[in-house]
Amino acid sequence: MDALMFRDGLLKGKRILVTGGGTGLGEVMAQAYAQLGATVYICGRRLGVLEDTAGRISGKTGAVVKPIACDIRVAEAVEEMIATIWADGGPLTGLVNNAAGNFISRTKDLSPRGFNAIADIVFRGSFYVTLACGKRWIDGGDKASVISILTTWIWNGGPFTVPSAMSKAGLNIMTKSLAAEWGPHGIRLNAIAPGPFPTKGAWDRLNPSSSGREDSAGAIPMGRVGQMHELANLAAFLMADGCDYLTGQTIAIDGAMHLASGGNFWTLARLGDADWQAIRDQIKAANEKDKAQRAHWQHG
Ligand code: HXC
Ligand code: NAP
Repeated sequence: MDALMFRDGLLKGKRILVTGGGTGLGEVMAQAYAQLGATVYICGRRLGVLEDTAGRISGKTGAVVKPIACDIRVAEAVEEMIATIWADGGPLTGLVNNAAGNFISRTKDLSPRGFNAIADIVFRGSFYVTLACGKRWIDGGDKASVISILTTWIWNGGPFTVPSAMSKAGLNIMTKSLAAEWGPHGIRLNAIAPGPFPTKGAWDRLNPSSSGREDSAGAIPMGRVGQMHELANLAAFLMADGCDYLTGQTIAIDGAMHLASGGNFWTLARLGDADWQAIRDQIKAANEKDKAQRAHWQHG
């Protein structure tokens, strides 16, 4: 990746798991860690996607990148994955809670299953992974760094993305709570709240064409969306040695969007029933595509 601001080898000897590391921002951070010398594990539900990404990153960086299929909604599967990683080469030194699910919807249209589809990944799944790592770090006396990828609506609310906003807000307070509880063990927890960094996964579900939402750059004081290397640099900094006193913090990287214009989806209040039906149909099509890939890799 161009424009990483750190010296080669900064993360040599580090062992880092990036959940949801097969796509989007997870892939960006996994690649940065690999480029800086870390051994990287990436997990997700689609093994084929993970294998492609791991191969691509290893090819570019020469680093060891290991794909693991794991559904973080399943606590037993998480335990198994973390045990496998520890057995593979010793303790992790870092974890990035990046995996997530999200879609825009009027809250009145959500079913309990719709709420859980998101909360089970973001709120519960991220906790399962943090717990499985944390108890091993404490038992082994290992120092570690955890980064959770949140959103800026943890501060001002997330209309039309309420299950995500509630879940990410929960992870924000997990970050602060465990920074205090696990500080005596040398375990740091911080979080990053990105503004818009266009990825396929997010844009299919948050910016479908019928939402009529224009490119959000106009609502961003810096006049543009985020660039991937900017996020990668922050994620590398928080993972590196040298900022060991920095813990319990959530850092926004959004060009001041949430401060100026909210950074959430409240403008969708103007949409009517037909618009929402069209949006739901488009999101469904994106979900079905991903589901087909999951089925292929589970049974193939
Ligand atoms: C209302 C919906 C819906 C929609 C699904 N549901 N889509 N409800 N509006 N658009 C409901 C379904 O009707 C169903 O409830 C329930 O949710 C479960 O649906 P499934 O399709 O079976 O869900 P599942 O296969 O578990 O998939 C989970 C998912 C999917 C979250 C819905 O999108 C996913 O796997 N996403 C992973 C990738 C992702 O979302 N990436 C974006 C991250 S971006 P009923 O009751 O009908 O059975 C992000 C923030 C970015 O997080 C911030 C940008 C600024
Ligand atoms: P993405 O490409 O859709 O990434 C989500 C990843 O999570 C996918 O790789 C997905 O892989 C994985 N995942 C989903 N459910 C999982 C499960 N149950 N178990 C394991 N892995 C699972 O979207 P993205 O934009 O890169 O989002 C990455 C993170 O950034 C998310 O936390 C998101 O909320 C946050 N974020 C993004 C933006 C943005 O502008 N892009 C802004 C703010 C915050 P599988 O489907 O194969 O499991």
